[in-house]
Amino acid sequence: MTFPILVYGTPSLKKPSEPVGENFPELAQLVDDMFETMYASDGVGLAAPQIGRNIRLVVLDASAAAEGDQKLKDCKRVLINPEIYETSDDEVLMNEGCLSVPGIHEDVYRPEWVRVRYLDEQMTPHDELLEGFAARIAQHEIDHLEGTLFVERLSALRKTLLQGKLSSMSKGKYKADYKTRQNR
Ligand code: NI
Repeated sequence: MTFPILVYGTPSLKKPSEPVGENFPELAQLVDDMFETMYASDGVGLAAPQIGRNIRLVVLDASAAAEGDQKLKDCKRVLINPEIYETSDDEVLMNEGCLSVPGIHEDVYRPEWVRVRYLDEQMTPHDELLEGFAARIAQHEIDHLEGTLFVERLSALRKTLLQGKLSSMSKGKYKADYKTRQNR
């Protein structure tokens, strides 16, 4: 099944999420449903808080960009309790959007690569270097677990320019071609 995606202006999107414990009930089903929701809305990443679950769980699939980068071909991941413990000094600019902030796309600076520790859906630990597009998605999604949206990472000027749009969005004025929900 697919979930509606929570939109900007919903207070729980700004809340830090709780770690996923061992024996989390129906984890496999939740992971399946999150992938289904992500694909249905043409997303490349989805964090559990975006469907109203404030837990540290992310799904991502960077393979859509594999044409430009063969390394991304099998880059489909479930990140449970992810922790970025090292980042490149170099930051790169990349255009981002977010299913929770429909209609807004902006360039954001972030480290080019990250080292991340996480558990997969079998609760097996991993330690992985993610680069390029995969690193970008992981950082964006892990931000969601802290209650941070990408628009908060823009320059003061860009934020000011977007203020009107965001304030309308938080009042329910937005368009999305996937299922959404907003609590105010
Ligand atoms: Ni997002």
